Amino acid sequence: MRLFYNIRTLYTPLGRTALRGGKMREIAEIDNAAILVGDDGRIVNIGPFVEEELHLAAFKTEEQLPIETIDCRGLVALPGFVDSHTHCVFAGERSKEFTMRAEGRSYQEIARMGGGIRESVRQVREASSEEIFQHSKRFVERALALGTTLMEIKSGYGLSTEDERKLLQAASQIAEETAMEVVTTYLGAHAVPNGISQSEYVREVCTNQLPALHSMAEFCDVFMDEGYFTKEETIEICTAAKKLGMKIRLHADELAETNGAQTAVELGAFSADHLLKVSDAGIVALAKSEHTVATLLPMTALSLRTPYAPARKLIDGGCAVAIATDCNPGSSMSENMQFVFTLAVIGMQMSPEEALTAATLNGAAALDRAETHGSLERNKVADFVLYDIPRLEYLPYHIAMSDVVSVIKHGEVVAGERLS
Ligand code: NIG
Ligand code: FE
Repeated sequence: MRLFYNIRTLYTPLGRTALRGGKMREIAEIDNAAILVGDDGRIVNIGPFVEEELHLAAFKTEEQLPIETIDCRGLVALPGFVDSHTHCVFAGERSKEFTMRAEGRSYQEIARMGGGIRESVRQVREASSEEIFQHSKRFVERALALGTTLMEIKSGYGLSTEDERKLLQAASQIAEETAMEVVTTYLGAHAVPNGISQSEYVREVCTNQLPALHSMAEFCDVFMDEGYFTKEETIEICTAAKKLGMKIRLHADELAETNGAQTAVELGAFSADHLLKVSDAGIVALAKSEHTVATLLPMTALSLRTPYAPARKLIDGGCAVAIATDCNPGSSMSENMQFVFTLAVIGMQMSPEEALTAATLNGAAALDRAETHGSLERNKVADFVLYDIPRLEYLPYHIAMSDVVSVIKHGEVVAGERLS
């Protein structure tokens, strides 16, 4: 049993499902807080630091267990970030494309010239799973040091059974060998590889890749967009994935409006991601959906030099919005959730409270983890981050800098300063 006490202020959303619309602003704020963590890494009690009360709650269930006390030195605590959209297993890099975009070429033009996803596919096909793991581990460890404690990782740069397997293997090795908790997604339908037609590749995904790889990934994702996969192809692939017991998430309405949001809702997807071009009808569909989170990736918009997703319209329209990095070698080369938080506030006019919910509880809901992750409350995992900041607003305000002091995962310090 461990008691983290002397937390200047603890900020957290509350709930076991995504928060929608106006509810996204409702953040609990506890001054002089303490968190009591059980030996299983779950929160036993949390609240203002009244020593007897927190101790008593512990003693109700256990015989006089010794409690290790940890002084949080007046730092601010927030739930660990949930980065619910990353492509962070890959090989090599594509910095030349970044410069070409700065010179005015578009993402689609570069893809047509043979760059884009296919360039990463070439690099991945030349690498071993171990090399991919070593390369990707560095991004994951830096993400952890910047406050991310749960991360989704997609495949999608292999585009063949064996190469997609290497990526999913690297992702599961990351889960085993780093402190990051990982949720895996299979994204075989990220692009059509060279030497095969679009329709043949869709068939190959449904009849070969999905049956071979479904047990390595919890979710199936499809890049449904102009020039990538159509609505019909997306439905075909996701139906096959669902039959194998997989859950769905979609890349939707990123480059063009193709009814991506509505399709995600129809498929019962846990999230519809990007939404740079989402239509008003798409926003209505998301607002009415049972559990489809609108996941916004503002670093991608920044990097592609396109307007941000309409976060205000989505939130004011009653949707549940999450934010994530989209960490990938092409359109969003960063693993920094703090910077995404800043972009949500500056670029998408989200309030710091909305951005906090989007970066934690709603991200957890997008990964079907809201029961256990994404907020600091009893019985949830004790994943939190201590910052040397005076208040929540300071986090997005201190642009592109990190004030993280310690990152705590399941009640243990896994990055930053050891506390005592
Ligand atoms: O989320 N949109 C599709 N996939 C990635 C980009 C992948 C790449 O360019 O390598 C994205 O932006
Ligand atoms: Fe993506």
